Amino acid sequence: MSVGYYTPTKVVFGKDAEDKAAEMLQEFGATKVLVHFGSGSVKRTGLLEKVEKNLSDSGIGYVELGGVVPNPRVSLVRTGIEMVREEDIDFILAVGGGSVLDSAKAIGYGAYGGGDVWDFYCGKRTVKGTIPVGAILTLAATGSEMSDSSVITNDETDPVYKRGVNSDFGRVKFALLDPELTYTVSAYQTACGATDIMMHTLERYFHQGDSLDFTDELSFTLLREVIKWAPVALEKPDSYEARANIMWCGTLSHNGLMAVGNSTKGDWACHQIEHELSAEHDVAHGAGLAAVWGSWARYVLETDPQRFAKLGQGVFGESDPEKTIEKFEEFFRSIGMPTDIKGLGLEFGEEECRTAALGVTFGNARTIGNFKVLETEDIYHIYMMASGL
Ligand code: NZQ
Ligand code: ZN
Repeated sequence: MSVGYYTPTKVVFGKDAEDKAAEMLQEFGATKVLVHFGSGSVKRTGLLEKVEKNLSDSGIGYVELGGVVPNPRVSLVRTGIEMVREEDIDFILAVGGGSVLDSAKAIGYGAYGGGDVWDFYCGKRTVKGTIPVGAILTLAATGSEMSDSSVITNDETDPVYKRGVNSDFGRVKFALLDPELTYTVSAYQTACGATDIMMHTLERYFHQGDSLDFTDELSFTLLREVIKWAPVALEKPDSYEARANIMWCGTLSHNGLMAVGNSTKGDWACHQIEHELSAEHDVAHGAGLAAVWGSWARYVLETDPQRFAKLGQGVFGESDPEKTIEKFEEFFRSIGMPTDIKGLGLEFGEEECRTAALGVTFGNARTIGNFKVLETEDIYHIYMMASGL
């Protein structure tokens, strides 16, 4: 098997990158824009005002849709789709973190494709096109600014579902990456972001089949850089060097680079196991990943201890597989991340573990993972381990 690498996104990286918004929109032919944002940070920082002035000064019309929440909801996506139709919008500008970007992508799919937008997320229909999307990123974490992914939570069902769709139509036209915009991100979200960035590389590193040594080495460098700079960003939130290194690591960690030469796209089990937690309990994605990764790692370790040894050597100069897992967990804890489910503020017993495991496999309808293929029973054990049971 082989893995594709497709990165059509135009990136502007550096101070004041957001000032290029109007220029980029014009380059991509936008005439009327939906400016999409979250629950208030872009208003508090003055970014929204600055961007809208930039658009007005260039004669670009726009309407606003704010209110995206973490683990973005399909209900707001539906509102956005209506607005795109009613207002003749031909471009969506996402100003915010991964949740805003993912919501913008969903609006793009729904407005282009018609019908029920949830169809794309529950696998009933394939995305065939989109209203183009551009991004001004304010939080380094998900890599949505170059990834093919959008993850949406359906708040209209019981139980609540959180589902992702991968499509090259989800790759945004442009991404404006100004590390200074991330100075105001809270310590908790900074740590969640750092964890998510590391996990996007770790998920690709753990897979069955051939690996490219160069890609492995790039992965180790990326992980070492996040481990180096996240504590600096926590200590000094306005360290440009720390924020810039983390931001670029975040983008490259999830644009496909870290899987080139490998025979598969990676494992991704931890993401599936986490998504079940953030769907039902609305926890932050990065924290959920930190809470389950160590348990997953111990559960799958015997599949290929050498892979863990190479990782440990490359990142920590420590080739003992068990110690490698401990070192990652120590790092997560050092930046304030939980390494078990209790640390997320959740009380999981056997029943909760069983329900969550069935949720991950859609009621025994699928397996997850590639490094080690996991069935419901395996996932149940991982949740139990992560719950200290
Ligand atoms: O809503 P506002 O007020 O903007 O506040 C947000 C939010 O409360 C705040 N924030 C963002 N930028 C800020 C800021 N606060 C101060 N200053 C700033 N500059 O941070 C909070 C979290 O934002 P959110 O966008 O939810 O975080 P993140 O970027 O981590 O996105 C998480 C979502 O992305 C999905 C996750 O599952 C989750 O739903 N993912 C998307 C992926 C993708 N599209 O490729 C891949 C990931 O694996 C992930 O699954
Ligand atoms: Zn992630």
